[in-house]
Order: sequence, then C-alpha cells, then structure tokens
Amino acid sequence: MAREILYLKISKILEEQIASGTLKTGDKLPSIRAVQKIYNVSLNTVKQAFLELESKSLIDSRPKSGYFVSSNSLRRFSLPSVSRLKLADRKKHPEDLISKVFNTIANKDITQFSLGVPDTSFLPVARLNKGVVKAMQMMEDSGTGYEPVQGSINLRRNVAKWSFVLEGQLTADDLVTTSGAMNAIYNCLLAVTQRGDTIAIESPVYFGIIQMAKSMGLHIIELPTHPVTGVEIDALKKVLPRINACLLISNFNNPLGSLMPGEHKKAVVEMLTEYNIPLIEDDLYGNLFFGATRPKPCKAYDEAGMVMWCGSVSKTLAPGYRVGWIAPGKFKEKVIRQKLLQTISNPALYQEVVADFMENGRFDHHMRGLRHTLRIQCLQYQQAIENYFPENTKISQPQGGFMLWLELDKRIDTTALYDIALKQKISFAPGRMFTAHNQFNNCMRLNFALKWNDKVNLSLKRLGNLVKNQL
Ligand SMILES: Cc1ncc(COP(=O)(O)O)c(C=O)c1O
Repeated sequence: MAREILYLKISKILEEQIASGTLKTGDKLPSIRAVQKIYNVSLNTVKQAFLELESKSLIDSRPKSGYFVSSNSLRRFSLPSVSRLKLADRKKHPEDLISKVFNTIANKDITQFSLGVPDTSFLPVARLNKGVVKAMQMMEDSGTGYEPVQGSINLRRNVAKWSFVLEGQLTADDLVTTSGAMNAIYNCLLAVTQRGDTIAIESPVYFGIIQMAKSMGLHIIELPTHPVTGVEIDALKKVLPRINACLLISNFNNPLGSLMPGEHKKAVVEMLTEYNIPLIEDDLYGNLFFGATRPKPCKAYDEAGMVMWCGSVSKTLAPGYRVGWIAPGKFKEKVIRQKLLQTISNPALYQEVVADFMENGRFDHHMRGLRHTLRIQCLQYQQAIENYFPENTKISQPQGGFMLWLELDKRIDTTALYDIALKQKISFAPGRMFTAHNQFNNCMRLNFALKWNDKVNLSLKRLGNLVKNQL
C-alpha cells in the first residue's frame, strides 16, 4: 500500500513539472537510479512511477538512453465533453444504425475501426488451439455432457486465483460462469430487476447494454460520464431514490476509456449500499491497463455483497469462446437460478481451455505482451488522428482498453459520415449508437486494436480528410 502511494507521489511530481514546463518536450528525465536516491525509495517504486507516466503518454523510453518527455505530453487536441444528465423518457434507440454497422463486420475489405475486439494476431491462437485438443482428451466425456450449473470448477478456481486485485477476497465458490460478459450482465439484471424498474448507466455507453435493458422492459437513466474519471458521482447521488440497480463499466469504459479513481469507486459502493441498490460492475477491460498496476474494481470496496462483478475473456483471449463469469455477492443463489432457467449450463470444453491457459499457458506473459502492444497502438492512433483530423477534434485519453472516443465539430453528423466512409471501405462506430437519446451525433468510436500498418494509417488519413471535407 505504502509503495503504491509513493510511486503515485513521484509520478505526480514529475507530471506537475511537465505541466508547468519545468520539464520540456524532449528533455531527458533523471535516471531511475538518480530518482531512487533523491526520494530514497526502491528501484521498483521509481519504475512504477515511470510506467504510470508512460501510460499517460507523458514520457517515452528510448532503448539504452533513458526516459524523455514525450511529444504527446503536449496534446494538441483536448478531451471530449461530458454529457448532461438524461432523465426524460422520450427517446429513440438507434437499432437500425447498430444493425447497419454490424452487417459489415464480416467484410474483410473494410478497415473495421468499428469492431470491439483485438486483432486476432494479438491473441494466443496457437496455444489455445493446442488447449482445445488437450481439454478434449482430458475430459471424461470429451466435453459433451452438461456440467454443474455454477460452471467449471477449474475455471472458477483460476479466475479467483488471477483476481489478485481483490486481495484474496474471492474463492471459486463465489463465482458463477457465464456465456461471456453480456450473458453475465443479463443474468445479473434478471436476478435483481423486474420489468418497469429503472437502472442508471454511464453515457455514452456500450450499445449492447442499452439494447439489453430495453428488451427487458427496464427504464434507463444515462448519467454524465467524464472521459477520464468515469461516471459523475454527484449525478448518481441525485438519482439514487429513483433507481433499482446501477450498471457501470468502472475500468476503461467502452467507448470513453475512462477509469474511475479508487476513491470514486469506494464512494459509489458506499452510496449504493446505503440505498440497498445492487451494482452490476462490467469489468471485462480491467486487465488491459497501461499503468503500473491493475486498477481495483468496485468489488474490492464491497463489504455488503452488493456488487456483482462481471468479466470475460472476450477482450483478452477469445471472444468466440463465450467464456465469462460473475462474482454475484449476495445475489449468488438468484443468479444460479436464472442461469439454470436461461442456459442450463455453458459449453464445458471452452471453459476448460481457458482454465488450462490460465493455469499453464503463460497467461501473465500473454497479458503483459497484449498490454504493451495496445499501449503502443494507442499512441500510434492518437498521433495519426492529431496529424490527419481537423484542429478542433477532441479525443479521449484512455489509460487502458482499446477504444478511442472522438468528438468532432458540431456541424458533423457521424451517422451520415458513416455511409460516406463505408464507400471508401472504412467503418467506425457513430456516436449515436452509444445512447438512447439524441446526442453524440458529432462523435465516433474507433477501435485502436487493429494491428497498425500502412493500410490502417491510410484509412485514418482518409477518414480525417472525409471529416475535413464536411466542414
Ligand atoms: C462494455 C462491454 N460489455 C460487454 C461486452 C460483451 O462482452 P462478451 O463478448 O464477453 O459478452 C462488450 C463487448 O464489446 C463490452 O464492450
């Protein structure tokens, strides 16, 4: 704990020096050893502090030369705005637009900035393939039978084992496996809400959540969400008497990439617990952090069992395996009952493959590599956007995950722009997809986990030109 605070203290001092111009773009930072001596801390603490600054794109490491203040530290483009609280129920969800964007997904000729998955080349496909064969051979019935409703014990044990961030609070018995994170959320909503109830969510938010809640007959309150710090807690406080559940993507929200600070998470859990409101926490991006350590989920602050922590391997290993889980806290029995009604059990084979990969497949090694790759990709995409898009473009600054949120000139309608871009074989996710209200019409989400190459660079340049031509 003490070390965690120390490294943040050191990174903050350096951040302030960069902000004030004391350290200028291109300046070399003092060496790790020099900083260690100045603050009388361990080398690891200084390394963590530097990693934190790297994750914010404030410094770059150059092989054998040390750390330098990066040119990105002077972002030309500012952050996107925060939306207003949306309470009114007069809204129209853009189903047609979502279907249109999804219908192009299989087309390989299109540069798919609209996708919500990492490039297959970033995933450990060969190792997973071996795992499938191994799992089939190891399983008594080769994975053909039903498994217990709560899900694979091997998977649950490994998920609990890798949840270091929860500091040993979680055991295999606290978990229920699901068919991905969406199915986890669905089971949670079924367990704690009824038709006609109201839930509070972030805004903008992953469109799947809005569609699902709507199909269940739930009312939705879209809360203002800051691009860096996530949901605005004062707005949530205001609506507490009106809601039956809250659903948050606390770490690297899709599409903003926002990360709720620890103190916000703690405050939210306390507030909701006081009102006896369950929190469904969608934490499927939490392991894709660019900073020194994995951010804690809200679940880490949950003493009363009110947080239903959901995750999956869709963004880190294999979206098609449909392997996910929930730690449902005190709602465990209700969730198990819902799962039995909905799905009976999940395919056992893929759960075993994932469990085996976590146990023997160098999971940690893969995750470190993936995080590093995504951090570099993020910088490449941000730089290209600053080069190719109009000067008044606003862009998010994610500290993890792989989504960028762009706010363009007010005159640009990204739903109309989508059709124009598609003719040039470029797909992105128009902002209107991420809300039930008439807003974010000048915004777009870009996936930066498409492997960087000349085609991606050219597509971003073309997209930037299309935006410029609209002005
Ligand atoms: C925030 C969020 N939740 C859930 C999902 C769906 O996850 P899964 O494939 O594990 O069901 C996505 C996919 O894009 C997402 O971004």
